[in-house]
Amino acid sequence: MSTTITPLVREVLPECVRTATGAPSLHNSQPWKFRIEGARVDVYADPSRRLHVLDPQGREQLVSVGAALFTLRLAVRRSGYRSDYTLFPDTDEPDLVARLTVTRPSPVSPAAEALAAAVAHRHTNRWPFAQIPVPREALDRLRDAARREGAVLALANPAGRDVVLRLARVADERLRQRPGYCEELARWTGDRVRNDGVPPEAIGPWDALESVPVRDFTEASAQRRNGEAFEPYPTILVLATEGDRKVDWVRAGQALQRTLLTATWQDLATTPISQPVELPAVRRLLIEPGSGLAAQMVLRVGYGRAVEGSPRRPLSEVLLKSDHRRS
Ligand SMILES: Cc1cc2nc3c(=O)[nH]c(=O)nc-3n(C[C@H](O)[C@H](O)[C@H](O)COP(=O)(O)O)c2cc1C
Repeated sequence: MSTTITPLVREVLPECVRTATGAPSLHNSQPWKFRIEGARVDVYADPSRRLHVLDPQGREQLVSVGAALFTLRLAVRRSGYRSDYTLFPDTDEPDLVARLTVTRPSPVSPAAEALAAAVAHRHTNRWPFAQIPVPREALDRLRDAARREGAVLALANPAGRDVVLRLARVADERLRQRPGYCEELARWTGDRVRNDGVPPEAIGPWDALESVPVRDFTEASAQRRNGEAFEPYPTILVLATEGDRKVDWVRAGQALQRTLLTATWQDLATTPISQPVELPAVRRLLIEPGSGLAAQMVLRVGYGRAVEGSPRRPLSEVLLKSDHRRS
């Protein structure tokens, strides 16, 4: 590491971490922590923010942390630096998901600039989308985004889409019957003023046509959702990885965020639909048998109304004190 760039890196890294917290996460649990040591950022999973009922394996927690890692990489890139990272660099520290090291200054490409600019504008959209087909070139760019992060993004054909949506509805019903589901949902929803969880204004209506199974975040509260007709033929994508180990979950998260940002950059609205990947028996049915792939997320994309962002915790809550003995 050149000593000439280190002071500058020190200045930009806290802001890069703040940008990384704009990543999506299961129920906006923001299950991450960061530690800056010189030109290095350690990215941790925060076990106290794991959703034990919905996510007993911690898979979605690592997908969320992977999304934050991709956002961090992008923010560093936008600051004019290149970086490398290692996943799970220390077997004695299982919560240490990634270690990112800034390597050298490098001019930002317009593509990285555009993707980074999308971070602040990407929000989960739980409202009906317009009945306008998503152009093939736009979908190709999404597939390419996932591929660049080592994942596969498949567009469901009409028959496949109906199957995926049916599986999502079945999964949603079964999950709601799971002991502890409502209590856990209650912890991450409601109208208390706070800086995590899904706020009332981010919860959309229910689909009066019962086609799009957007998760009901009012389930555990007195709030009720209005009914509105969603698009009858939603564009549905399935994100998958070749393996299904912890590293693959982090990879899936990085691919998810790169895909979502590529969608935002193209003015496409997005909704992650994770109920079907939260039940192992249903999750298996999302993938062609024998393909060797593991489904990690279902995504709905389309043209939607403008929506507000959900809150984020301040840097002071996610940034651990640097510990010079560790560097
Ligand atoms: C692993 C994962 C699973 C998610 N599952 C759902 C879901 O099933 N339904 C939904 O509406 N949003 C889902 N989301 C979106 C989060 O609720 C959303 O990212 C979070 O509330 C923060 O809001 P934002 O995306 O607008 O920043 C998921 C996100 C992640 C990363």
